[in-house]
Amino acid sequence: MNNTKTLTSLAKAMPKTELHLHIEGTFEPDQMFALAQRNNVQLKYKTVDELKAAYQFTNLQDFLDLYYQGMSVLLKEADFYDLTMAYLEKVHSENVIHVEIFFDPQGHLSRGVDFETQIHGIHKALRDAESKWGMTSRLIMSFLRHLSEESAFETLEIAKPFLHLIDGIGLDSSEVGHPPEKFTNVFKACRDLGLKVTAHAGEEGPPEYVWQALDTIKVDRIDHGNRALEDENLITEIKKRELTLTVCPLSNLKLCVVDDMQDHPIRKMLTLGLKATVNSDDPAYFGGYMNDNYVALIEKTQITKEELFQLAKNGIECSWMDDSAKQAHLKSLDSLFLA
Ligand code: ADE
Ligand code: ZN
Repeated sequence: MNNTKTLTSLAKAMPKTELHLHIEGTFEPDQMFALAQRNNVQLKYKTVDELKAAYQFTNLQDFLDLYYQGMSVLLKEADFYDLTMAYLEKVHSENVIHVEIFFDPQGHLSRGVDFETQIHGIHKALRDAESKWGMTSRLIMSFLRHLSEESAFETLEIAKPFLHLIDGIGLDSSEVGHPPEKFTNVFKACRDLGLKVTAHAGEEGPPEYVWQALDTIKVDRIDHGNRALEDENLITEIKKRELTLTVCPLSNLKLCVVDDMQDHPIRKMLTLGLKATVNSDDPAYFGGYMNDNYVALIEKTQITKEELFQLAKNGIECSWMDDSAKQAHLKSLDSLFLA
């Protein structure tokens, strides 16, 4: 077998975690149309092909405009359950053993869908995946950064009766013009409640936004973080704080964060000693789930077996799963790579 084939089969077989995944970004066009029909919602696109043809983005905002339209078909608890379960089934078949999922409650509350409907649908699917396959999960409620801090505070109040189902808080949506410092107070309130915190930073925004994620939000990890590489002192600080970067290769390509997969900085991140991980972000929109992201790196970059191992290991070690589960998964990863 040549090297690409060997690495591809290892990547597919290895136990993987997904630490950066927006559940609303897993909406496959077929399922979106089926739910639109079930709920009598009119989509802007008449056919699946017409919708797919619109998946050409030149930046994050292009994508977000479509993403918010897509989620408009989610109305009932069963819709959130079906969406989540379809994603979990898919990644279970790819040997993903643990997922950490974002959801965007404000994107649904604004359409009159209550918080309980959203979280119970998602949570029941996560619970079923654990009992069927032993797949573990964490749920991250994300604030939309194009909205105000006041709206984030209101969302936190609404979420309070459900905090036992929520493990962490994130910050997503349009980055440029909405720096992390806009949300300093609400993230402090979240940390005081014992929640972990993470934020999208340095996807399109400058290194200054990543500094703010560290110093004002006081993140436990960084989502994307690509532009942190522009600032040497920032790289040193991220290493000092041992923060993970949840990197999303196919997303970066689709949203023009990188021009060519060949130039993706993930290997450089590893060389610099940063804890990079591989994730899919919004797989239904960006052309691939976990295995596709690894395959793209194998086919387009000169990634080595050692780097592949390191990425999978980071995914387990840097997740928010229990220590005993981490040890068990690291052991099976070791035996696969050392076989
Ligand atoms: N929401 C869903 N996907 C996102 C991304 N890649 N960046 C920011 N917000 C998002
Ligand atoms: Zn994201």
